Amino acid sequence: MIKVLVTGGAGFIGSNFVRYALKTHADWHVTTLDKLTYAGRKENLHDVMDDPRHTFVHGDICDAAVAGPLVEASDYVVHFAAETHVDRSIMAAGDFIKTDVEGSFVLLEAARRSPALKRFIQISTDEVYGSVAEGSSTETDELKPRNPYAASKAGADRLAYSYWATHDVPVIVTRASNNYGPYQFPEKIIPLFVTNAMDDIPVPLYGDGGNVRDWLHVLDHCRALDLLIHTGKNGETYNIGGGNEVRNVDLTRAILKHAGKTEALIRPVADRKGHDRRYSLGTAKLQAMGWQPQVAFEQGLRDTVAWYQANEWWWRPIKERDPAYKAYIEAQYGKR
Ligand code: NAD
Ligand code: TYD
Repeated sequence: MIKVLVTGGAGFIGSNFVRYALKTHADWHVTTLDKLTYAGRKENLHDVMDDPRHTFVHGDICDAAVAGPLVEASDYVVHFAAETHVDRSIMAAGDFIKTDVEGSFVLLEAARRSPALKRFIQISTDEVYGSVAEGSSTETDELKPRNPYAASKAGADRLAYSYWATHDVPVIVTRASNNYGPYQFPEKIIPLFVTNAMDDIPVPLYGDGGNVRDWLHVLDHCRALDLLIHTGKNGETYNIGGGNEVRNVDLTRAILKHAGKTEALIRPVADRKGHDRRYSLGTAKLQAMGWQPQVAFEQGLRDTVAWYQANEWWWRPIKERDPAYKAYIEAQYGKR
């Protein structure tokens, strides 16, 4: 059995990756290490919790006593665990520095003591490039993160690289664009807007709605990671972009259309501080290895809306019964 450690496997992308990995690789045993923060939920792994090839460990990546032995016992580490929401990092950045930077450091130190480790996939983000006025970011571009989330991810991105350059840890860094799909916490734009729309609650569109994000279906992301685990080169960085650059206002209109609602639900609100105008990724490096996104955005978005419509059991407890979630929504949008 190939032993794969997935940190943050109870989150959005991590849980999709765990499910994908168990389905795709019969010879993998996957261990999820997750702290179960507000964004991490066992429900995200409900169908694989009892799989004999999956082990769930409730723990913090910053805790070397827990994380260290798990890294040392692994063939591959796929490191997703992070604080991930830009708006929360603007309100309070401490947890971002702690988990994204220090947590990555703890895992990399363990990786350094693990001669059997074959891959350490550092999941970074396109946000490390900062706002892109023209053209697309390539892997050698300067990093210009502009919000505390992006800056903490950039710190971890380069720290991971340094452990390859200095200690020969088999690190690959990936920078994906905005992911969408099932099991995304309803604070990010797509699940927030879909679930609001279902209940006829207005959708808060920041600024003029002209900010552009490149959308990548989470399963296309999983397929790219799989390819890189098998054929990527240590010490290299790879962009993973969906090739779907969409203005937020157009995304919002499409969500409302698929949800069967009118644009009257759009509520323009004050802009995010330091709001990056546009992200855009050049993906020639990954495409040269044979990867192409397979999910067309229009269909992927339609399916994603349908998933939230069909899985109210998953999101209603968060939106309706989690006091911390309600407090967050009030703090974020109450006076906006
Ligand atoms: P998420 O917020 O849905 O999930 C994060 C997971 O990490 C949760 O399960 C949480 O419980 C866990 N976690 C947080 N702190 C932890 C700690 N100290 N120890 C152990 N577990 C901890 O995030 P996501 O959207 O799935 O993102 C996963 C990764 O992908 C992150 O590294 C993020 O920066 C990166 N990324 C995300 C996107 C995107 O669009 N969502 C795009 C590019 C890169
Ligand atoms: P988000 O889903 O938070 O991802 P990120 O900031 O990591 O790109 O936001 C995506 C875009 O949607 C971003 O330009 C901000 C915008 N947005 C809104 O307009 N309203 C909202 O309520 C949220 C959460 C985001």
